[in-house]
Amino acid sequence: ILNNHLKTQGKLFRPYLTAKLAALFNLKEEEYHHISQAGELIHNASLIHDDVVDQASLRRNRPTLNAHLPNSKAVLAGDYLLASVIANLVSIKKFDTLKTLAEVLEEMVEGEFIQDSLRNKESVTKEDLLKVSSKKTGALIAWNCHSVAKTANQSEEIANLCHELGMKIGLAFQLYDDNIDYSFESGKEYAKDLKEGLINFTTLNLIKLYPELLYPVYQLRGQNFSFIPWTQNQIQKAVDTTKSEIDLIYQEIYQLVDEIVELAGIEKNTLAYNDFITFLKLSEQRTK
Ligand code: FPP
Ligand code: MG
Repeated sequence: ILNNHLKTQGKLFRPYLTAKLAALFNLKEEEYHHISQAGELIHNASLIHDDVVDQASLRRNRPTLNAHLPNSKAVLAGDYLLASVIANLVSIKKFDTLKTLAEVLEEMVEGEFIQDSLRNKESVTKEDLLKVSSKKTGALIAWNCHSVAKTANQSEEIANLCHELGMKIGLAFQLYDDNIDYSFESGKEYAKDLKEGLINFTTLNLIKLYPELLYPVYQLRGQNFSFIPWTQNQIQKAVDTTKSEIDLIYQEIYQLVDEIVELAGIEKNTLAYNDFITFLKLSEQRTK
């Protein structure tokens, strides 16, 4: 089941980010490969479980595992993937990597758990969403970046800045993911978050821009609705607001890279540096 499922690869965003950052610190592939691999496989395991939690039938335009298997089998497939990552890190004696990864797993589960509780919260705030997003999306990307810096024997200060970098990339990604929830071309169901009872960042912006939509939107929360109370123009304005927030986060991301490069004494006029910036610019463009 897993071999078949993992063939329909995603964007491999985490392994690319890991490799590009590792190159900046002059690491060889054999030194960081386990970080890329563990991050990507845990990401996939978490999505398999997430699709069960969200009762999602489509991901990346393809049926999810739980769409053609009972939930029990999909959950076990995710468990197996998770166990294989642990077994692999133990077999290559990367105990520190495993310890920090286990802490991240706790955070991801907490993030999903808090998100689930928000389905019944009367009024969801931006702080609620920032907390959930940092745990369920940011923590793993931050772990990839932090682990690379530690593996490259960088200082605690630099490793922490790399962690922050991953957190910000994760948040930008979450904002983008919330935007495409309101797109008809995302490969996922339209307004799935709201149908599943979740107020996301874009929904918050919509309500903030058009307070008259607050009541109708909360009324639809958790319903499999077909009537849409917002106009195309209104949702576009909310999506554009979220895009401006992504712009600001990317400005902070480039500032952080500057700080990291400065502190680590990395030459800016190198292939690795230019490659890293190009990669970030491409990721930024993809979130538009
Ligand atoms: C997608 O969120 C889900 C995540 C980023 C993390 C899910 C985490 C868990 C299920 C807990 C950890 C479990 C394991 C096995 C490591 P989303 O629903 O907002 O995004 P989507 O629209 O892509 O589904
Ligand atoms: Mg989901």
